[in-house]
Amino acid sequence: MSLLPPLQIGQYTIDTPVELAPMAGVTNRAFRSLCREHGGGMFVAEMVTSRALVERNTESLRIVSFDEDESPRSAQVYGVDPATVGAAVKILASEDLADHVDLNFGCPVPKVTRKGGGAVLPWKRDLFTSIVKAAVDAARPYDVPVTIKMRKGIDDDHLTYLEAGLIAQDAGVAAVALHARTAADYYSGTADWSSIARLKETVKHVPVLGNGDIWSAEDAVRMVTETGCDGVVVGRGCQGRPWLFADLQAAFEGRADRVTPGLAYVAETIYRHGELMVEYFEDESKGCRDLRKHMAWYLKGYAVGGDARRALAMVSSLDELRTLLDGLDHDAPYPGHDAEGPRGRAGSPKKPHLPYGWLDSRELDAEFAESLREAELSVSGG
Ligand SMILES: Cc1cc2nc3c(=O)[nH]c(=O)nc-3n(C[C@H](O)[C@H](O)[C@H](O)COP(=O)(O)O)c2cc1C
Repeated sequence: MSLLPPLQIGQYTIDTPVELAPMAGVTNRAFRSLCREHGGGMFVAEMVTSRALVERNTESLRIVSFDEDESPRSAQVYGVDPATVGAAVKILASEDLADHVDLNFGCPVPKVTRKGGGAVLPWKRDLFTSIVKAAVDAARPYDVPVTIKMRKGIDDDHLTYLEAGLIAQDAGVAAVALHARTAADYYSGTADWSSIARLKETVKHVPVLGNGDIWSAEDAVRMVTETGCDGVVVGRGCQGRPWLFADLQAAFEGRADRVTPGLAYVAETIYRHGELMVEYFEDESKGCRDLRKHMAWYLKGYAVGGDARRALAMVSSLDELRTLLDGLDHDAPYPGHDAEGPRGRAGSPKKPHLPYGWLDSRELDAEFAESLREAELSVSGG
């Protein structure tokens, strides 16, 4: 029996209520393809800034490119200025570049929060409202649902997520997702799933998606059971483990089968990822270079020596990749526990850098407007 009903995002019915979290530098078309080959869900592209889209920056247009069979085609936009966000969403919707737009209010990077962007932006209630409304208004004529993804707030004394969830619901978003950490938490500790439960109790008319520290299908089931959320968003847990989407689908369909790949299967997946990367970048060297960061994630826990790991992390052609992968022990079994658990970005709490006086008022005043524009220029993911 299914654990949850399908997730409804506007007119899109997502049978497996799972979202691949947008991750800058990770969730490009190649990686999404690989994840989609394993299981169902909704797969969000890397973030693009609204300004880059409006300026039709070539790399941003590559980021919002999708496979023909992707549905919905989910793009994510980061912006700090309502007019620019509206214009960017209009480009995506009116030019049929995306079917769904997610708005990023989760970025905790100091160079962004220092200017008032990302996870600290919802503190300025009026600005947050205007941005969400501008996006929803721009998307509405094209029937493109807009969702938001946010953190709990700036820090434990300055939480914004419940209010932001209600504002977004009123503005007409199709769902709200919460990464259950504050900007100050950064990626440290464990996500506070109780906040997801609280958001679900508060936002009653649109789906609430929970995010943070899902490393296995069992974690996803536990998040749903503990919080009552309508779907889960999975980020780092699928880095180097695109087959997690098979596990997630199985778990949501009430099945117990799990993918436990031996090294031969991992090697084949890495090669397939490499091919997709080369296709995506239309450049073999670039595609292989971009694959490098995935190697440590793929090989976590497997019996692979230091020399092979280092060589794979320096790979620059598909031929070389094939040779190196052929050199691995294809009889090595799934290592179990060592291949599981946390992976990817971590770190310790950081006191958020904020514009001077940011906390004094919940409304935006003119002096912050200029620094906010700079916040968009220096953004790099969430
Ligand atoms: C490498 C990396 C890049 C990310 N880029 C984005 C992004 O572009 N947009 C966004 O909303 N969140 C971004 N995030 C945050 C993730 O979407 C997600 O909220 C976070 O990793 C917590 O989920 P997890 O515990 O499942 O990883 C990024 C996270 C990582 C690790």
